[in-house]
Amino acid sequence: MLTEQQKEIIKSTAPVLREHGTKITSRFYNLLFENHPELLNIFNQANQKQGKQQQALANSIIAAAEHIEQLEEIMPVVEQIAHKHRSIGVTADQYPIVGENLLQAIADVLGENATDDILNAWKDAYEVIANIFIEVEANMYEQAELQEGGWEGYKDFYVAQKVKESDVITSFYLRPVDQMPLPTFNPGQYISLKVTIPGETYTHVRQYSLSNKPNEECYRISIKREADYDPNGIVSNFMHEQVNEGDTIPISAPAGDFTLDVTNAKPLVLIGAGVGVTPMMSMIHTVVKEQPNRPVTFIHAVRDEQVQAFKTEVENLMTNHHHINPLTVYSNPINDQQLKHHEQGYITKEWLELNIRNFNSEFYFCGPTPFMESLIQSLTELGVTSDQVHYEFFGPKEPLNAPTYA
Ligand SMILES: Cc1cc2nc3c(=O)[nH]c(=O)nc-3n(C[C@H](O)[C@H](O)[C@H](O)COP(=O)(O)OP(=O)(O)OC[C@H]3O[C@@H](n4cnc5c(N)ncnc54)[C@H](O)[C@@H]3O)c2cc1C
Ligand code: HEM
Repeated sequence: MLTEQQKEIIKSTAPVLREHGTKITSRFYNLLFENHPELLNIFNQANQKQGKQQQALANSIIAAAEHIEQLEEIMPVVEQIAHKHRSIGVTADQYPIVGENLLQAIADVLGENATDDILNAWKDAYEVIANIFIEVEANMYEQAELQEGGWEGYKDFYVAQKVKESDVITSFYLRPVDQMPLPTFNPGQYISLKVTIPGETYTHVRQYSLSNKPNEECYRISIKREADYDPNGIVSNFMHEQVNEGDTIPISAPAGDFTLDVTNAKPLVLIGAGVGVTPMMSMIHTVVKEQPNRPVTFIHAVRDEQVQAFKTEVENLMTNHHHINPLTVYSNPINDQQLKHHEQGYITKEWLELNIRNFNSEFYFCGPTPFMESLIQSLTELGVTSDQVHYEFFGPKEPLNAPTYA
């Protein structure tokens, strides 16, 4: 329990910590990996290099501390992070390690301004926050393990089928090696896979959304080969080039709170940009099966037909569901043929106004951050409210530079 005096210290020093945020978080990660190199097995090093994760972890601890008197207000955020932690395999005994190194980083950066009272207050606040995470995650671990076909941590799956979906996206159909039944999942959820790449010192963990519907014989993930920037994406290239039918990979049970509510009958708008279409595939398959009368607008924003995955799969779904309106927006179409039935350009407010029949819909989307920012901006201007909007990041959750909702 924190004393009233400690709560006051936390509230008055949180702005100072925020001001030194980047310094503290950089110092924190240096210390963490210096003292515990084994943690390099679970942290995504590309996110580290790009500074995304630094922003996410320690800043969220400071944000939580700012809410120390009303921690219930941050529970939705705790749940979202806890899903990611559970999926990756973060354990209760790792919390004190993060705590110690964070405290050391605060002490190093604040120097002589870090009095014993301040450091003790932050130590205790961290413990309160960590215990909340540990409890939420313990429940999630239990649920993942105890559900039908569930398991603890990672379990070996083999690639039953590897299917090229476009020039850049390939699907992997995964089945458990132990032949146990597959746990169901909510459309929109992801799994983590852990790969050991020859020549690499550490394992690499990445998340992939499930792109088929629940209750099938396999989990399907669909991976874009990241080869547009230097260096190439390590796991996606490994999966495309080195992992073949029959090979095994350890994966964790499905997780995530970006999920389709199938009890809601409002019209549905699914929007995927590029490979962000994968969770939308799980959602559209599920709606076809479970909500045959629910109107669905399925929008795929993609560079051109060569890199577009699932076009035929979506069109085929229309035979079993008469309320699907599939639309593609090509940013850089290769030829006029593609434009016969589709649009060229980007999804703008004007485009949405012309193409969305009913703004009293539920909107689910996933894509690069600037795409999601622009979409939220447009939807807000068109009168869509925050409770109608659901989105997923294919990386650490970032603050969106978009309006807050009325
Ligand atoms: C919830 C969730 C669901 C996801 N679902 C999918 C999905 O369905 N399909 C899918 O394809 N992806 C999905 N992703 C993304 C996926 O997890 C990986 O991030 C993606 O495959 C890239 O991983 P990689 O190892 O190939 O690339 P990484 O090696 O992680 O590199 C990623 C980027 O960082 C750059 N980079 C790497 N190292 C450095 C460096 N030293 N300096 C500067 N830049 C660097 C690379 O050039 C590359 O552009 C999802 C992510 C999340 C969080
Ligand atoms: C109270 C303590 C903690 C807080 C507030 C916290 C917060 C966060 C946040 C905000 C994210 C990003 C979530 C997202 O992807 O959107 C994250 C991811 C992550 N956290 Fe934590 N975390 C805490 C403790 C820990 C501990 C103890 C570990 C284990 C050592 C850990 C390991 C990770 C890993 C591996 C990721 C994913 C990193 C990546 O893929 O880039 N976290 N955490």
